[in-house]
Amino acid sequence: KELPLVDIVIFGGHGDLALRKIMPALYYLFWQNHIDPRSRIFSTIRTDDTDEQHRELVFNKFREFHPDNFYSEETWSVFSSQLFCTKMDISNADDYQELAIALNEFPERDRINYLSTPSSLFGDICTALNQTGLVTQKSRVVLEKPIGHNLQSFKEIDDTVAAVFLESSIFRIDHYLGKDTVQNILALRFSNTLFMPLWDNKSIDHVQITVAETVGVEGRWGYYDKYGAMRDMVQNHLMQLLCLVAMEPPRSLQKDSDSVRNEKVKVLKSLRKLNNREVAEKTVRGQYKHGVSNKQSVPGYLEDDDKIHESDTETFVAVKAEIENWTWNGVPFYLRTGKRMSGRFSEIVIQFKDVPHSIFPNDGKPLEPNKLIIHIQPEESIRLLLMNKVPGLSQGMRLRPVELELNVLHDDPRSPTAYERLLLDVIKNDATLFMRRDEVEAAWEWADNILDTWKEDNIMVKKYSAGTDGPSSAVALIERDGRSWHEDS
Ligand code: BG6
Repeated sequence: KELPLVDIVIFGGHGDLALRKIMPALYYLFWQNHIDPRSRIFSTIRTDDTDEQHRELVFNKFREFHPDNFYSEETWSVFSSQLFCTKMDISNADDYQELAIALNEFPERDRINYLSTPSSLFGDICTALNQTGLVTQKSRVVLEKPIGHNLQSFKEIDDTVAAVFLESSIFRIDHYLGKDTVQNILALRFSNTLFMPLWDNKSIDHVQITVAETVGVEGRWGYYDKYGAMRDMVQNHLMQLLCLVAMEPPRSLQKDSDSVRNEKVKVLKSLRKLNNREVAEKTVRGQYKHGVSNKQSVPGYLEDDDKIHESDTETFVAVKAEIENWTWNGVPFYLRTGKRMSGRFSEIVIQFKDVPHSIFPNDGKPLEPNKLIIHIQPEESIRLLLMNKVPGLSQGMRLRPVELELNVLHDDPRSPTAYERLLLDVIKNDATLFMRRDEVEAAWEWADNILDTWKEDNIMVKKYSAGTDGPSSAVALIERDGRSWHEDS
């Protein structure tokens, strides 16, 4: 088969994301024969490194973050020979000449510009690319989240990108959409008749979405402090997960990339805007303090950098979100995410309603409601919790919950990373799993309302010890409604 032949430019080529995620993903694409080995990868850097030094750095970081067995010296040497770096000030169009000469060697190739930089530089980069004549009919641009820090700044930045690239060439990436189990939500919902009639407020009691991390800010204090968990995680990753659970069936996954995006936008636009009183009641902001994580004593957020800071940035958020439409009215979506929590797990729990009337005495114990538990990471699993009779004569009609587990194991020994999948989509020019402008706008609008109220009403972070499940008010948030956060038994 003919493999796609592309030239890729990574802006911010020596940044953490580029070395930790993007480069390894590209190597794996070479390794699995998904791209033509003549494809070239340019990295913009700020140091005087030669191509050789750059290749060595990329290799060392690759092995540090991916010490697996899926490394082949032979593929690496092909891949490595296609890596180039160019020292430049990416805000200055005069510095683009060297890149232009290299790219113009093959003017007919598809060009992918991956902007792995703070979003404040997106406009400068696109303008400079345009001024240097580096934008062709076959150019695309990939934008990393978060784009801007609120709706207004998003629009300003996006306008500068849109002045150079058509919407169909702009790929706003959210790597959560590249995770296998996340994509499986679409398969589960829209290829099984079983769930569809149950997928609404008549049968579902509530939904929980948790993205818990054990890591702290990991050397990203400067970035993180300007954003916080709402902008870093909720506005994008958690919103996308919510959309996949709540959206109506799209017309097609194949005909055009807009069917899915149209449905997601409808969900985001139907999110209830909370008033000031509701923000105080239905949201929780937290910040970790010193504690024990993975059996090790770890510093608090304020000390988690080379110097000690003062800051009210949140590292934890819990929100009771509501969707105002016929399908979801009355079904809360409890969202929570945090750094330095007790465990690393991302999961979606769909809790169904209780049976209308129980005919089982069950020793006076209530029946447990059915739950569909979608575990995204670290392990991938999809489980359906059902009530079942305890077998045996002496047990009478006693019931207990049992789990039906869907086998989500991969046939091949290595499961592709989210970045690999999404980069391949960019290479193939398929934007289905990328965010359209109106989607990002709607997500910012909802987040801004909460962020602005926190600021206006001076809602301060609540401290939680590292290695725990966040502030106790996050537990109170759900327990007030007579519900509780799901815990694996
Ligand atoms: C990134 C955030 O988008 O996602 C990080 O900026 C976070 O703060 C990361 O740690 C989590 O991604 P994953 O794939 O490890 O769950």
